[in-house]
Amino acid sequence: MSAVKPVTLLALLVHRGMLAPAAAQGALRSQDPRAWLIANGHATAEQWQDWLETEAGTRPRLSRYELGELLGEGGQARVFRAQDRVEKRDVALKLLKPELARDPVTRARFIAESKLLLDLRSPHVVRGYRVAREGEAVFCAMELVEGENLQRRLDRDGPLEERLALEVVRQIAEALAHLHERGLVHRDVKPGNVMLERSGRAVLIDLGFAVSRGQGGGSADETTVGTVHYIAPEQARGQQDLDVRADIYSLGATLYHLVTGSLPFAGRTSEEVLAKQVLESLSGERLRQLGLSPQLHWVIEKMMAKEKEIRFQDPRTLAREIATMLARRQDDSAQDDEGPAARARRTRRRWL
Ligand SMILES: Nc1ncnc2c1ncn2[C@@H]1O[C@H](COP(=O)(O)OP(=O)(O)O)[C@@H](O)[C@H]1O
Ligand SMILES: [Mg+2]
Repeated sequence: MSAVKPVTLLALLVHRGMLAPAAAQGALRSQDPRAWLIANGHATAEQWQDWLETEAGTRPRLSRYELGELLGEGGQARVFRAQDRVEKRDVALKLLKPELARDPVTRARFIAESKLLLDLRSPHVVRGYRVAREGEAVFCAMELVEGENLQRRLDRDGPLEERLALEVVRQIAEALAHLHERGLVHRDVKPGNVMLERSGRAVLIDLGFAVSRGQGGGSADETTVGTVHYIAPEQARGQQDLDVRADIYSLGATLYHLVTGSLPFAGRTSEEVLAKQVLESLSGERLRQLGLSPQLHWVIEKMMAKEKEIRFQDPRTLAREIATMLARRQDDSAQDDEGPAARARRTRRRWL
């Protein structure tokens, strides 16, 4: 691991409230920041070494896990590849950001999220192994998903082929079915929270906002957690009794984004987007212009219906519907591949 540059380290220390801005400026102006901080009594040699090695406490030293590369970062956590020295295997280690770990409410929520993961068993929901606290570090060791999140993939390669997008959505519908059967609502389904492995397996991650059905958050603000571009109208309105159909809507918005490369509703502010989620209908004209197949168009409209009663009512039905569509496409494309002569022979055979 290459050592972090002094200027980056000083910025991190100030950001984390571990060093006064004036001290950092003084250190930066000097020839040798380390020597300057020590000479002026802002740090000891050991402290500087410790800051360097732990990148100002953002990469803690843990007894059981050896931290490797940073895999990703969200609003509340950093996720590292790590080696579990006891089980002798690679894991993904989700570490609550140290500046948030000091707040008891955030800490309790993070631990609750991690505990949920320990109890879930689905090939399409990330497996949790262990949640622990060591010194100031609060973290969860999870199954390492060898792939990338779909937001990253969209940013790099643009829209996915319909077939792949549908296959991903079918698998995530299976994940939602698993959560649903345990009375959970994810509340933050979006491309950034779906990982795709090279093998084609799709995995739902980040249960940071998941709640038991009907429990909702304490306030409207709590219900509207989730990313405005993907949340269901009832969630946008701050309704408390969300159920799996809110997740089905978000998965529909995810599917829309995956196949078109654009968001279903855009706006300059969050409020504008929220208003559109509630009021504006999906433009059928726009979907047609995008050249989507009629079946895909139908699935998206049914997943993203404003009235939850009109959506697919449960994720298993949705998964089955998509599986049927995919199988039908397979048949059609097999026929196309045959070429006219073979198709004619087959048709003749059918008549014989
Ligand atoms: N189990 C995992 N295996 C590999 N990478 C992961 C794993 N979990 C998360 N990541 C990466 O870290 C990013 C942030 O994780 P996430 O759980 O979404 O954190 P946050 O709650 O801060 O949004 C993900 O988008 C993904 O790129
Ligand atoms: Mg996330």
